[in-house]
Formats: sequence, structure tokens, C-alpha cells
Amino acid sequence: MVELAPFKPALKAGFDEVALDPAYAYAVAGGPVSLDQLARVLFAAQGCTARAWGRCLRAAPSAGATYPLQAYAIVRDVEGLEPGFYRYVSPAPFSHRLELVSTGTWEGSGAFAVVLAEVPERTTSVYGERGYMYVREEVGHASQGALLEAGALGLAAEVGETPPGLGVRAEVRVEVGRRGARGLAREIPEGELPRPPKPKMTLEEAIVARRSVRDYSGEPVELAEVAGLLAWTLGGRLRSYPPLRGSYRVSCYVVARNVEGLKPGVYEYLPLSNSLERISAGDYARRLAYACLGQEWVARAALNVVLCARESSEIAEVEAGMVGQGLYLAATSLGLGTVAVGAFYDDEVASVLGVSERPLYVFPVGKV
Ligand SMILES: Cc1cc2nc3c(=O)[nH]c(=O)nc-3n(C[C@H](O)[C@H](O)[C@H](O)COP(=O)(O)O)c2cc1C
Repeated sequence: MVELAPFKPALKAGFDEVALDPAYAYAVAGGPVSLDQLARVLFAAQGCTARAWGRCLRAAPSAGATYPLQAYAIVRDVEGLEPGFYRYVSPAPFSHRLELVSTGTWEGSGAFAVVLAEVPERTTSVYGERGYMYVREEVGHASQGALLEAGALGLAAEVGETPPGLGVRAEVRVEVGRRGARGLAREIPEGELPRPPKPKMTLEEAIVARRSVRDYSGEPVELAEVAGLLAWTLGGRLRSYPPLRGSYRVSCYVVARNVEGLKPGVYEYLPLSNSLERISAGDYARRLAYACLGQEWVARAALNVVLCARESSEIAEVEAGMVGQGLYLAATSLGLGTVAVGAFYDDEVASVLGVSERPLYVFPVGKV
């Protein structure tokens, strides 16, 4: 067993900076990383950030707090750590450790890899078939947590499939290592949206502070804050998260109710031009809340961000989770509150938006 130093925010970078210069833009190069770097990346994926209802709440959200993921690390070149396959355990707020499962070698580019093993029964026993989508969304949340933290640490990262022979059920691994050449550059076009404000805290502070928020003050959200949420997370040809298997599948809509500088209505966010295009005018928040099984926070939010995909696929669900983690951390950084909403009637949400795509996620957003 390897006890890791308790997690404490230390890095200066904000979500805006890290999202603009993502870890996946760099080739993963050889060479060791430190145990502290490994610990921080794992914490950002699945660390315990609070205790409630007798259990740990984690850095990534979980449908009904069912927590179907178990994080592991494939360790190849981490200072002071024997190579092997380790289970990551975070039993109380900010404390964490590694437990050696097996020694061996597994191919991969990084000094280590985060493996997100799935125990879907924890979620499907509560939510039935719908639970499988939630689990894949949670894999996306945790992966993007790891990717963002790797970026804040000045490391490179890439998302891949899990190598065989680990003995766990896992689709996704995040390879993390030193930075090689920068292969890609992320640019967010100026567009028509106002410049976002500076975040009120660092990325690591936002990881620690992130919680699902369902009570909003009722004050309007500013358009510049909406611009921050959307542009940092999704804006540009390259987004804050990598294109899975080479492409992006998730589209994004805004149902505005109480946004200063934006008339109530349904808008599509266009990442390539960083702009909002109106689909229909009017206040649709109440109808959207009905479509979300009457969840009141959807009706009371200043706006709702709705993620959809043209084709229904498992990979789009993982991607929606990556976007979701970005929205949570961007909102937290800006002093806004949000909550991931996965419980809704798909066809009713699509009809509120007036689109023929499949809705994957709804994020009510408001001032706290
Ligand atoms: C896939 C998914 C679906 C969720 N669906 C809902 C929902 O429909 N309504 C809701 O209020 N919260 C929902 N949540 C939020 C969880 O209840 C919340 O993440 C969990 O209680 C842990 O709290 P935390 O996010 O503050 O850490 C969902 C979370 C996830 C990851």
C-alpha cells in the first residue's frame, strides 16, 4: 500500500488557461513523472472531496451518488513507485492511497495511465437500462478531470482504449506523461459573444469546490459568463477535450430564461464561430422542467445548457460526460452553480429544442 500526500490545491492555473492549452495537444513523451503528479491526476478523476449521507462525494459527479467507477493506475515510470497495476482508493476527504493489484508490463505511451473500471450494476440496479448511459457519462467526467489536471501540471495526455489482461471491465484509459512536441493548437474564435470574465479561483480549487447545485439566487446570469461556460469548454475547432476516435459528436443548445443580454429562447451554440444562433424565441424553462420529470431547478435556472448528439452512440455519451465535467468546473470557477441532469424524456427534451437529435444531458445554471 502506498499512502499519497493529502490533496491540497497548489497550482496557479485557472480553468480558462488549462482548457485553452489542453494536455492532449502535446505528444506524450518518455521520462518519469513524480508521485505527486500521479496523485493529483487520480484525485481530479475520482478523489473524495466531501462526505455526505455516510459516503464520499467525489471530484466527478455520479448519478444518484451510486459511484459505478473504480479508478486504477498502470504505473510504468513514476518516481519512487514500483511499476505495476494499482487500485486508487480515496476513503475520506482529500486522503488517498494506491494498492498494488499486480506487477507486470502493459503497453502504452505514458509514464502512467488512469484506467476507469466500470461496475454498472451499482447504477443500473437503481436506474435500469438508463444507468448504462449514466455510467458512460461518468467515465467522461472522470477522464476529463484527469485530462484537465494533467494540463495544469504541464503534462501531456491522450485517451485510449484499455489494454487487455488487466482483469477489470474498463473502456477508457487516459495515458499521461511528459510533454513532447505540441502537435495541435486550440484557438477560440472571437465570435459575437462577449469576452468571458476571469475565473474567481484556480482549476484545482474548482475541482475541490465542485458540487451539484440546485438552488439559485434568481439573479440574472451575464452573457459574458455564458460565453465563458461555452467557449472554454466547447469553443473552436478543437475543444477543451480531445476528439474521441478523431471526431466530435456532441452539439450544444442553450435554453435562456434570465440571461442579461440574451432574449429568452432556444439557441444553438456554434463552436466553430463561437456564437449563439437563435432557434426559437420565448421562455421554455417550464416545459423543459416537465420534460425532466418536473425537476424544479430546471425551471428556476437562469439558463439550461442541453447536450445532444446526432447519432446515438456510446462514445457520444462518454463525450457528453467530458463536456459535463468542463461545464461543472467552468461554472464553479465563475461562481455559478450547475447540476448534471440525466433523468428526462428524450423525445420531450428534443421537442422543446425543436431538433431531431438525441438529448444526452441537461445542465441548469444559475447564480448561487
Ligand atoms: C449521469 C448523471 C446523471 C445525473 N442526473 C441527475 C438528475 O437527473 N437530477 C439531479 O438533481 N441530479 C442528477 N445528477 C447529479 C448527482 O445527483 C450528483 O452528482 C451526486 O449526488 C453527487 O453530488 P456532487 O455532484 O455534488 O458531487 C446526475 C449526475 C450524473 C453524473
